[in-house]
Amino acid sequence: MCGIVGAFSRRGAVLDGMVEGLRVLEYRGYDSCGVAVADGERIEIRRKVGRLSELEKLLADGALAGARIGVGHTRWATHGAPSDENAHPHSDGSGRLALVHNGIIENYLELRRELEAEGRKFSSETDTEVLSHLVGRELARGAKLVDAVRTSLARVHGYYAIAVMSTGAGGGLVAARQGPPLVVGVTPDAAYLGSDVLALLPHTRDVVYLEDGDVVELSPGHYTVTDLAGKPLERKPRRIDWNAEQASKGGYPHFMLKEIHEQPDVLARTAFDRILSDSGDVSFEHGDWSDERLRALDRVQVIACGTALHAGQVARYLIEQFARIPVDIDYASEFRYRDPVLAGRTLALAVSQSGETADTLAALRLARQLGATTAAICNVMGSTVVRESESTILTHAGPEIGVASTKAFVAQVVAAFLLAVRLGRARGTLSVEQGRELLDELRRLRPRMEALLAPATIERTAAIARAHVDAKGFFFLGRGVNFPIALEGALKLKEISYVHAEGYAAGEMKHGPIALISKGMPIVVVNAPGAVADKVRSNLHEVKARGGHVISVGSDAASHELADETIEVPATIEALSAVLNVIPLQLFAYHHALARGCDIDKPRNLAKSVTVE
Ligand code: G6P
Repeated sequence: MCGIVGAFSRRGAVLDGMVEGLRVLEYRGYDSCGVAVADGERIEIRRKVGRLSELEKLLADGALAGARIGVGHTRWATHGAPSDENAHPHSDGSGRLALVHNGIIENYLELRRELEAEGRKFSSETDTEVLSHLVGRELARGAKLVDAVRTSLARVHGYYAIAVMSTGAGGGLVAARQGPPLVVGVTPDAAYLGSDVLALLPHTRDVVYLEDGDVVELSPGHYTVTDLAGKPLERKPRRIDWNAEQASKGGYPHFMLKEIHEQPDVLARTAFDRILSDSGDVSFEHGDWSDERLRALDRVQVIACGTALHAGQVARYLIEQFARIPVDIDYASEFRYRDPVLAGRTLALAVSQSGETADTLAALRLARQLGATTAAICNVMGSTVVRESESTILTHAGPEIGVASTKAFVAQVVAAFLLAVRLGRARGTLSVEQGRELLDELRRLRPRMEALLAPATIERTAAIARAHVDAKGFFFLGRGVNFPIALEGALKLKEISYVHAEGYAAGEMKHGPIALISKGMPIVVVNAPGAVADKVRSNLHEVKARGGHVISVGSDAASHELADETIEVPATIEALSAVLNVIPLQLFAYHHALARGCDIDKPRNLAKSVTVE
């Protein structure tokens, strides 16, 4: 999704820092980019379709290097194809205004007609340009920038994060939020804006999260937040415990590989200091996770998108097994429009890495309106999902930059496991002893994850992935907690390798998809000893009998014996096998994509954080 940066400095130049900020935001996904800066009265805009390196070529003459105020943008096209003209920043033709925008202006056509009728000339197909003309019209009438922004936003339907700069009397840097995230950081000599905290970390770790309806005026060393009517609002900075180092590749060729390798530490950070060994229980920091509250629940409704949805599916198996509460799960985008019925006392559980996914947020708000108690499993402190949930389990995965989610998924599954234990203990379906055994086993996962990431183990997985580099399609099969792992393995391959891969419940295969199996087709079967292991083996026989080439992943020795190739995973209890089994599947996708020469950290068409519907 689009990324915004902005900077206003008393002394130093801002351009290089803004370009670095845009580089940090690249991971969100984009197809064009641009900057606007002012050094004096005239605003200079440079924008380019394609990668940031293309924009940097336009900036290489150093002509803009001295500017002290600017805005920048990475665009993920919605209205209008990716092109130089549609790239942001946009202006109103006056040369004294520049605006960047993330989101959608729903009534832009109507506004565009109105502005064109007044003789205003448009130079792009974007909805954003309407906003720059609206603000420009107010400035031409003599308004201060902040007032011009407020008046303009009052005309707009939709959702947005914007940053606007103007020169001349009453000019400066102003931003506003209604939907997509925007954060502000201030140092004694400057003020910065960004779509996420990663872009601000090189400057400060004290950040202000804007809320919906906020308008902020920035100047070196200062920020002032008001609402759309101009009423002052208090927004205090929060200290972020991430650092700029975490947002670098740290010697790995790709963020995705680095993040796969971080997973043993992510397990420890997300789980270990929440474990109460004596009582076989778990404690969470944010919100009300008391016995009384949890005993009162009748059901759980999980809402999420993408990889987070798969973690939510694992959560369903774990919560139903440990706590005996019915759990429903739905794509957030379906839940929000199907006029859902939330019977009884429901806990609506949003699972989200970013905490900003538009569909997840809308589904969470709807669940709250329908009377549910709300909770989140989320990786970003201060994100909208966290701020709008009554209780939160923060996953401590650290910043995830690779578009294909890996460590955030493992952290979500671990958090779900902890929640299932907490619910089971609160509701008396798990004894102290049972709780303790489960949590002890969770602790024992760390060295097993490390074993999966040993160079020789990785190389075996990589060799299998490379051997199938020309395969036309894959199936990933699993049952129980390993069904969502099969879905996730297939999703990873689709996302970064652009190969058709289908994840399926192994037992459902025979009701149709089995017709697709032809001789030699690679079928990844995920299995672990436990309640459904022999059922999965029967399914494995079914695909083998039709000529499928079986790659067995997991710790079920009997499955390995039947398979053509095997990826051995250390043993654990069935409930936790998902955490281990997903790791070779992540590595499989990574090495497959590598062999195909794909852009692993920035896969085509994908955005890391989808803040539009
Ligand atoms: C996008 C990303 C996925 C992610 C999904 C949900 O589609 O590309 O990797 O799983 O959004 O994101 P969230 O931040 O809510 O977990």
